[in-house]
Amino acid sequence: MIEAFNKIIDHTIAHFTYEEELLEKQSIREKDIHAEAHEKFINNIFKLKDDFEQDGSLIDEVFTLLHDWLFVHILHEDRIFTAKITQK
Ligand SMILES: [Fe+2]
Repeated sequence: MIEAFNKIIDHTIAHFTYEEELLEKQSIREKDIHAEAHEKFINNIFKLKDDFEQDGSLIDEVFTLLHDWLFVHILHEDRIFTAKITQK
């Protein structure tokens, strides 16, 4: 499970870094606010990993985190920027 957390963390950081560089290059003015959402998400993953290492029980929190990322962040918030970038 720790290996899975590490893979999620590595992949997420790489994805967010790429996305933030893209927003910077495209001069998207909400970039800093979006980067704060990324940072909050990364911090939540690290917290879940720490919690798991201490007590091993976190299934509900993992599903909530994945829901927030997949459905709220990627499918809603990232799409706003996709639309702005493709309009340029
Ligand atoms: Fe994003």
